[in-house]
Amino acid sequence: MITTENDLKPVDPEIKKARTSVPILDALARRWSTRGFDPERRISTAQLTAVAEAARWAPSANNNQPWRYIFIDREAESRPVAERALKRGNIWAKRANYLIIALYRETFDKHDKTNPLAGLELGLSLSNLMNQATAEGLAVHPMAGFEEKVLLAGLKVPADYRIPVMLALGHYHPTRDLKDWQIESEHKIRERRPLSVMVNFRGQFSDEF
Ligand SMILES: Cc1cc2nc3c(=O)[nH]c(=O)nc-3n(C[C@H](O)[C@H](O)[C@H](O)COP(=O)(O)O)c2cc1C
Repeated sequence: MITTENDLKPVDPEIKKARTSVPILDALARRWSTRGFDPERRISTAQLTAVAEAARWAPSANNNQPWRYIFIDREAESRPVAERALKRGNIWAKRANYLIIALYRETFDKHDKTNPLAGLELGLSLSNLMNQATAEGLAVHPMAGFEEKVLLAGLKVPADYRIPVMLALGHYHPTRDLKDWQIESEHKIRERRPLSVMVNFRGQFSDEF
């Protein structure tokens, strides 16, 4: 059973830092998906711009840049739409300063053929965004648990856009307002499958994959 004091114990960043076989970029190692956000503490304009700039400079085939973002702060008229779209398991995200809607355009900008790589390219841009947010000292958490239809209709998004992910962005703050398993998960070390089942350095498909 978790005590009240423990609920509010801030997470030790060293616990959440990735355990790697060799050092990797600090932001990559330190990014983690918290469910604890400070509803009051604001993000500076410089930080917000840096986060958006990092997303902007991702690579894409033919430099098509299919990613788009809608940043929704707590005062935005569209905030109730974004909060309504969240599935029950993600209501913790309502405390975040920003809910970010990540969209990609299914068709190319120059002609209306489908771009089969658009979702992948949004993912590259999102990765930049999340790592820059971490480097800025911010907390960021991607979510697929939301009703896309609610966002598409509520934000009046044109037909050739998709929204695979929303993000919560803000300053980390421990909160009691989570389920017990979520509080426990905040303090757990982060895990990944070992390198050996993910990569083969000898140019072959591996039986261990
Ligand atoms: C595309 C995507 C969708 C996700 N959707 C949710 C979600 O709906 N709710 C949630 O709590 N976490 C969600 N996550 C966070 C993952 O659970 C988390 O990244 C994973 O457990 C690894 O933990 P870490 O990010 O702290 O390394 C999502 C992550 C990604 C990349």
